Amino acid sequence: MTTTSDGTDSRVLLRINGGEWDVVLDNRVTLLDALREQLGITGTKKGCDHGQCGACTVLLDGRRIYSCLTLAVAVQNRDVVTIEGVAASDGTLHPLQQAFLDHDGFQCGYCTPGQICSAIGALAEADKGWPSHVTGDVEAGVSSAAELDAGEVRERLSGNLCRCGAYVGIVDAVLDAARRSG
Ligand code: FES
Ligand code: FES
Repeated sequence: MTTTSDGTDSRVLLRINGGEWDVVLDNRVTLLDALREQLGITGTKKGCDHGQCGACTVLLDGRRIYSCLTLAVAVQNRDVVTIEGVAASDGTLHPLQQAFLDHDGFQCGYCTPGQICSAIGALAEADKGWPSHVTGDVEAGVSSAAELDAGEVRERLSGNLCRCGAYVGIVDAVLDAARRSG
């Protein structure tokens, strides 16, 4: 990363969905704004812009983050995946995208990109054995994503708010994808 002469901008290399962008950014710009306003990658949505709704969730080195709370300059040379990058290169949908379709997990669609990225991260965390607040034995964790029940899915996706009532379909979709991955 190179800071420009006046100290307010930096030149950074952003790796997003397998592509690379060599850009100059204001040091204060969030990853969310860089994606949407500077790079034109608009699948990630801005809801609250305050870390409260989850609409801006993306994957950073495989872990889910709120892009509205992450400075773009902080993700230089790391792998960012947005909703545009979760399907296979031949267009085959990610299993969670397919599960959302199969279980009618979509309604307004505005928050769905963040929900799908969050669910991908949540299932990866479960596969690593990480417990959640509602895991019965926190010390033991969980054995895999396939072990999750509806309560676990609700807790693990509680950072993604949906105001339209799609929760039932979303939970079913994530459980289905978890079972298939297990
Ligand atoms: S826009 Fe980032 S959490 Fe709401
Ligand atoms: S899918 Fe956006 S509010 Fe429910």
